[in-house]
Amino acid sequence: MKFANQVAIVTGAGRGIGRAIAMRLASEGARVAVVSRTEKNSEQVAEEINAKFAGLAKGYAVDAADHAAVQTLCEKIDGDFSRVDILVNNAGITRDGLSMRMSPEDWDAVMETNLKGAFNFYQGVVRGMMKQRSGRIINIASVAGIMGNAGQANYAASKAGLIAFTKVVARELATRGVTSNAVAPGFITTDMTDVLPQGVKDEVVKQIPVKRFGAPEDIASAVSFLAGAEAGYITGQVLTVDGGLVM
Ligand code: NAI
Repeated sequence: MKFANQVAIVTGAGRGIGRAIAMRLASEGARVAVVSRTEKNSEQVAEEINAKFAGLAKGYAVDAADHAAVQTLCEKIDGDFSRVDILVNNAGITRDGLSMRMSPEDWDAVMETNLKGAFNFYQGVVRGMMKQRSGRIINIASVAGIMGNAGQANYAASKAGLIAFTKVVARELATRGVTSNAVAPGFITTDMTDVLPQGVKDEVVKQIPVKRFGAPEDIASAVSFLAGAEAGYITGQVLTVDGGLVM
């Protein structure tokens, strides 16, 4: 088993991409802390994992944007599992609108979850990783953070910020056995993209060289690769998984 005796925290794992990442890491032997905003969702995914892969997961609920609550949660997870090897910062939201009309509340909400949320969990696990001289931090960014996207000033800025944060952490922890990388998904079929009008989806597909949306499992594969021992010499990178949209 690739991740035998390893513990992973996956945020926003109640559904979509986070759920697929939690399932994938568990299928490869990791014990997984499934974190979501609501207990019902995280516990449901943890139960699903435990039914399939025998007692490896536990569900937790927290608002990723709440620094104090996240620190308390990370202490609890450390108590429950006694270590953390892999942190996947996947929790994310959109509040789209043209930048000139965007409300400050929508700007703040997206920054607080997408960017500060990742910082919060990072601070919750980094000391433990440094002490054990090993760890994998994987931040789920977006192609919007690389190429921009009209109507997503807050979201694209949060993801570009997350990419910069990923690189800073990579530099700071490079000699400590801890790698920090980002995965930048293109358009993936989840609740987040289900809300797009069909006309918009059709236009987007035309721009994607492989001519289809990706699946959550496509992102989970990239995360599994970056979390594994074979990726130990890769740090500070952004792996786009987007059917060729950005190249
Ligand atoms: P989703 O909306 O299906 O799932 C997001 C998850 O994050 C949910 O479980 C939600 O409860 C959780 N979450 C949101 N705010 C939270 C908070 N404050 N605290 C704790 N948990 C919170 O979204 P999806 O599509 O699975 O996205 C996952 C990640 O991938 C996000 O960071 C998103 O920005 C990113 N992404 C998604 C793309 C797509 O096409 N679906 C494209 C590029 C990036």
